[in-house]
Amino acid sequence: MTISLSLAATRVPPTGTRALSSGVTVTLAPAGSPPGSPSARRCVTGSGSNKQPWRFVVVESEEWKQALASTVYVPANVATAAFAAAIVTEGAGRTLDVGRAMQNMMLVAWNDGVASCPNGMPDPAATADALGLEGDLLPVTVLAFGYPRRDLAPESKSAEEWSAEANRMPLDELVIDRG
Ligand SMILES: Cc1cc2nc3c(=O)[nH]c(=O)nc-3n(C[C@H](O)[C@H](O)[C@H](O)COP(=O)(O)O)c2cc1C
Repeated sequence: MTISLSLAATRVPPTGTRALSSGVTVTLAPAGSPPGSPSARRCVTGSGSNKQPWRFVVVESEEWKQALASTVYVPANVATAAFAAAIVTEGAGRTLDVGRAMQNMMLVAWNDGVASCPNGMPDPAATADALGLEGDLLPVTVLAFGYPRRDLAPESKSAEEWSAEANRMPLDELVIDRG
């Protein structure tokens, strides 16, 4: 993954789709994009004024992964992942845009059965060092990706059961309906 690390440092636009030796394909395009189509080679997530303020630093080798792991709140998340993808921006800004890309990446991954977890960090500058970043680039989040250890069998429960298990607030508490 040296290629992606240098991508972040040199600010070359990120490649949209990348097959990793772990058998996982990182894609920043919508699920279902025909392979090789222009959209499959780009990150199509929207961003404010289409500034695309992000770079995606992909880390797969043990050496880079362990160094990165030691800088996040829960090192095991990254240390045991198939790979990690940090989303970095200038000064760790544009967090709304980063959230849009992050969630798209997580949903696309899950569509292919790949689980993921965002990781925060106590010292973004230390994480930037571990990612080999230069200039003002700082990480906003480090996404850990991998196949789930156990089969989660999505069809084993109804949408309502999964939703209840997720322990989220009910809609009538979340939504303020002014009529
Ligand atoms: C060990 C562990 C560490 C996590 N660290 C972070 C984190 O640093 N930042 C973050 O936004 N989410 C983090 N998450 C994810 C959130 O905790 C998770 O999305 C939220 O609790 C909802 O859980 P669910 O998606 O499993 O239902 C972490 C999750 C786990 C299991």
